[in-house]
Amino acid sequence: MPADELTLLEQAELHIEGRMPWSSNATYLANLVVDDQQVGQAIYKPLRGERPLWDFEPGLHRREVAAYRLSEAMGLGIVPPTVLRDGPVGEGSVQWFVDADHQQHYFTVYEARPDLHEALSAFAVFDFVANNTDRKSGHVLIDAHDHLWGIDHGLCFAADFKLRTVIWEFAGSSIPSSLLAAVETVAERVPLDVATLLADDEVDALQERAQWLLERRTFPADPSGRRYPWPLV
Ligand SMILES: Nc1ncnc2c1ncn2[C@@H]1O[C@H](COP(=O)(O)OP(=O)(O)O)[C@@H](O)[C@H]1O
Ligand SMILES: [Mg+2]
Repeated sequence: MPADELTLLEQAELHIEGRMPWSSNATYLANLVVDDQQVGQAIYKPLRGERPLWDFEPGLHRREVAAYRLSEAMGLGIVPPTVLRDGPVGEGSVQWFVDADHQQHYFTVYEARPDLHEALSAFAVFDFVANNTDRKSGHVLIDAHDHLWGIDHGLCFAADFKLRTVIWEFAGSSIPSSLLAAVETVAERVPLDVATLLADDEVDALQERAQWLLERRTFPADPSGRRYPWPLV
């Protein structure tokens, strides 16, 4: 991945290549083009392509960008670079397209790669802080360098607690100190570049979830057994 991918996402021309299969909202694969040269690919989610939801206001693309900024502020590197910008179908989120092995997802990686369990556990912390309601197994990607990436964060940051995830293997165990340090950064103050994309009550709730985790110091559990997304993969 080039070092200046954020600049490319912001400045390259966006040429829609096609609509992603199985996507519920209009999710486009787009080519990033500079001087008639393709410099990368991106996932473009325009506001105009959103299907209305009863539990989230329009503007899910802003949550995609907030998730990237939160992951960066926490030093986690979970969310691929994502920017807010104009495109052929209007304002949207534009996220770096990860060249992933699409046979793999959370369940297969957890099963086959104990060496990546710690990296996977960071997703559990991130999703709790972000209040992710849609961590399907297929929303965890692995690239050729064994880097794990999280995608599809449009349904994050609600003020009400509504975590839904497939990642429960770490529940009850202690959170490593490096991850606690990541949580501390947002527990003290939600970064302005994240807060500016959310409603005030959502910013307060984000900070409260981070503080809650810092007090417990263990990965959250789900006594109800119902906090799963559907479908699971
Ligand atoms: N940054 C990305 N890199 C690679 N593939 C992606 C990326 N974002 C999305 N995809 C692919 O596109 C599919 C649909 O994207 P997703 O964000 O899940 O949209 P939807 O909101 O429609 O579910 C994903 O399941 C994944 O295969
Ligand atoms: Mg999805």
